[in-house]
Amino acid sequence: MKPRISIEPSILSADFTRLGQQAKEAEDAGVEGIQIDVMDGHFVPNLTFGPGVVKALRKSVALFLDAHLMIDNPHSFLEEFALSGADRIIVHEEVCKDLPTVLKAIKKLKVEAGVAINPETPVTTVERVLDAADCVQVMTVHPGFSGQRFMEDQLSKIQRLRQEIDQRHLKASIVVDGGIDAKTAPLAVKSGATVLVAGSSVYNQSAPVAQNVLTLRNSIAATVAAIGSD
Ligand code: DX5
Repeated sequence: MKPRISIEPSILSADFTRLGQQAKEAEDAGVEGIQIDVMDGHFVPNLTFGPGVVKALRKSVALFLDAHLMIDNPHSFLEEFALSGADRIIVHEEVCKDLPTVLKAIKKLKVEAGVAINPETPVTTVERVLDAADCVQVMTVHPGFSGQRFMEDQLSKIQRLRQEIDQRHLKASIVVDGGIDAKTAPLAVKSGATVLVAGSSVYNQSAPVAQNVLTLRNSIAATVAAIGSD
């Protein structure tokens, strides 16, 4: 069956002087959601935005807002992000001693719960929560900055997750985040990804957002068709 692939531009690469407009451009380009890269300067060596930006974007677009918390101690911020209008909160396995409890706490706030794993974190660390998580996000860069090179050695993790989720008939989607462009998107989809987070390939100086989103969509069309015909 043909997989439905979602594209979620990451606003880390957007023009911060017109964030709402850039989110709207993505919405008008027909993307399925926006990923908001929340960074605390501890868990990752960069500092970005908090619940206030999610709240502002909630007013600008009707899109699915995916808050990717690259922060230590995410548990203390769950409610704020849920109240700000996030539709999903993604926490990092590396900072959750009790991941099942954190995922449960997110769902209690009536938002989707996701878990992300860094390149050095094995898939085995999240297998125990695949039934509770709405998504697993495989980082294909070391988190912190956009414009980095896609790490092809992470493809086997995506394949392993795809196999596990399909074998256990689970619903969790597989999100891939980092270095996604027209060349790497088909690799991620072929491996089993269903959500593509793309920053610098969507928000850049070379072409408008709509054109970049279309380029991404076209780059995976043949791969999606091939999977559908399996
Ligand atoms: C990296 C962020 C990614 C990044 C994606 O720390 O989590 O979402 O912004 O940007 P690109 O697509 O340029 O790698």
